Amino acid sequence: MDHSLNFLIGIAARPQTAPRARARFLTTSDLPALLDLECEKWSEDQAASQDDLRARIENHPELAVGAFCSRTGRMLASLFLKPVPDDFCQRVFTWKDCTLLPSARRSSSLFGISLSSRDPIGVEVLLNFFWPHALKGGWRQIYLGSPVPGLRDWRRRHPHAPVEDYVFDKRGSLPADPQLRYYHSRGFKQIVSVKPDYFPHEPSLDHGVMLRGAIPLAALGPLWRSISLPAVQRITRRMTRLL
Ligand SMILES: CC(C)(COP(=O)(O)OP(=O)(O)OC[C@H]1O[C@@H](n2cnc3c(N)ncnc32)[C@H](O)[C@@H]1OP(=O)(O)O)[C@@H](O)C(=O)NCCC(=O)NCCS
Repeated sequence: MDHSLNFLIGIAARPQTAPRARARFLTTSDLPALLDLECEKWSEDQAASQDDLRARIENHPELAVGAFCSRTGRMLASLFLKPVPDDFCQRVFTWKDCTLLPSARRSSSLFGISLSSRDPIGVEVLLNFFWPHALKGGWRQIYLGSPVPGLRDWRRRHPHAPVEDYVFDKRGSLPADPQLRYYHSRGFKQIVSVKPDYFPHEPSLDHGVMLRGAIPLAALGPLWRSISLPAVQRITRRMTRLL
């Protein structure tokens, strides 16, 4: 089986019921709800401003996605992406560097500027929604810089060991760090690099771990270009149910 299918294993493990949440592309009319989510999930020095959020939507409306509760309409999760050169990882040190890179014209790589969620179902629906659009867009992988919130406590116990010892540490087959484990279960399995001073995040001692997630079935690129979006959506919906 294509390893990249693991991207959706979290979704597949759940029983199919009436959708609790729906995803769609964001518009500037979502700014109040985005700010509310941002305030809840990020500290003051990390949270994006209204202007930042507006710029993300206006720069790449096709890469700004939100998930909403089907019953109340409340925003559950948001995801902002941007196109980056395939070799961008070697050229950047910080999250800010990644956001300031000019958007790549010809590339198969996306960078996750930010993922925020107050309900795991929101992330599942959001990734599910984006999958067929990613295939049609010709994207093959998503990179993101994950916090490593267990690092500070580990460092107290191992003051002289290299950070990589913690980042690559496993419990069974899964990463020891809770957030790396979270992303691993969503298909972001490859650790590309460890970046000190990546962003302000105290429990991570400001480190970020650049992860790569392969987009399932993206290797069939020319096929996706030759069929319509509704057809790709039917295929990805079916794959999600089968997994
Ligand atoms: C990370 C995030 C997007 C996950 O949202 P979610 O899909 O709704 O899932 P949850 O927050 O319920 O976390 C699910 C599991 O992941 C683990 N996890 C994720 N992030 C974690 C963190 N920072 N510290 C500890 N555990 C974490 C937890 O073990 C949790 O397990 P639990 O169910 O036993 O509590 C959300 O917590 C969030 O918005 N965090 C703040 C911003 C952030 O860190 N974004 C990602 C930056 S790349």
